Amino acid sequence: MFDYSGKKVILTGGSSGVGAAAVEMIANLGCNDLTVLDINEPTGPATAYIPTDMSDPDSVDAAIAEIGDGVDVLFNNAGVAGVHEPDFVLRVNSLGPPRLTRGLLGGMSSGGAIVNTASIAGQGWPENLGAIMELLAIEDWELARAWVADHADITAGDPYAFSKQVAQVWTMQGSRTMHHERGVRMNSVCPGPIDTPLIGDFIQHMTEALIQWAVDQSGGVMLTADDIARTLVMLGSDASAALNGHNLIADKGLSASVATGQADYSALG
Ligand SMILES: NC(=O)c1ccc[n+]([C@@H]2O[C@H](COP(=O)([O-])OP(=O)(O)OC[C@H]3O[C@@H](n4cnc5c(N)ncnc54)[C@H](O)[C@@H]3O)[C@@H](O)[C@H]2O)c1
Repeated sequence: MFDYSGKKVILTGGSSGVGAAAVEMIANLGCNDLTVLDINEPTGPATAYIPTDMSDPDSVDAAIAEIGDGVDVLFNNAGVAGVHEPDFVLRVNSLGPPRLTRGLLGGMSSGGAIVNTASIAGQGWPENLGAIMELLAIEDWELARAWVADHADITAGDPYAFSKQVAQVWTMQGSRTMHHERGVRMNSVCPGPIDTPLIGDFIQHMTEALIQWAVDQSGGVMLTADDIARTLVMLGSDASAALNGHNLIADKGLSASVATGQADYSALG
């Protein structure tokens, strides 16, 4: 049920961290048609690499044209942290993935799967649901950028958290249309802090104390790229056939501790 043989798989952000770990696993699960879209060339066992900048609509469109039809599984995994300008963070994390997905969806195989790498940082989506639905309804790239600039009150304070709120809402919203129209499921994984090269940016943006607190509250050992890659691979496989529109929390229990009042905030002062 985790078999990837005979599947055409596309994965963004496969040169590092979670994506690179997922490339290894997907290849080991029998995939011989695995294309990575990234700004950096992957060193792992992908069968093709299309240099793609998810912040640039022309680059995304060129990748769509090169990929063509018949995609079975699409992993929207590439992402950047909140150390960059909101416009850039939102382009990479929130505008590029829907554009890529819209471009590939029409030719995707029924029974296929789309898996987004979101984050527990996006758990605040209920308070911005209306605004996020408004943004997701804007297909035009420049109009969407203008919307982000016009809504600095919610996009600029913590652009990364907002971008991952968008990812969670998009996963729920897209699951219905994609499943009803194309028979394609859409889910996301929502990790806590992961030991990848990106963690340095999160420490810079959120402070080391907060990241360490999150790790301490979830058993004391930080998630690894392999931990999250396994979850991605499961969501892209037939093992998750019943899941659609699901934002799967993968944080070793951190959110559960917070929700049940068991988290210890004393270390945060
Ligand atoms: N590391 C964490 O603590 C953490 C926690 C929750 C969620 N995430 C999410 O996990 C995903 C993977 O991140 P990671 O931790 O493996 O980080 P990483 O930096 O190791 O990997 C990110 C990948 O995205 C690629 N990338 C960056 N900008 C790009 C662009 N403009 N166009 C195309 N590719 C681009 C990078 O080259 C790299 O291969 C991201 O979506 C991130 O937001 C990470």
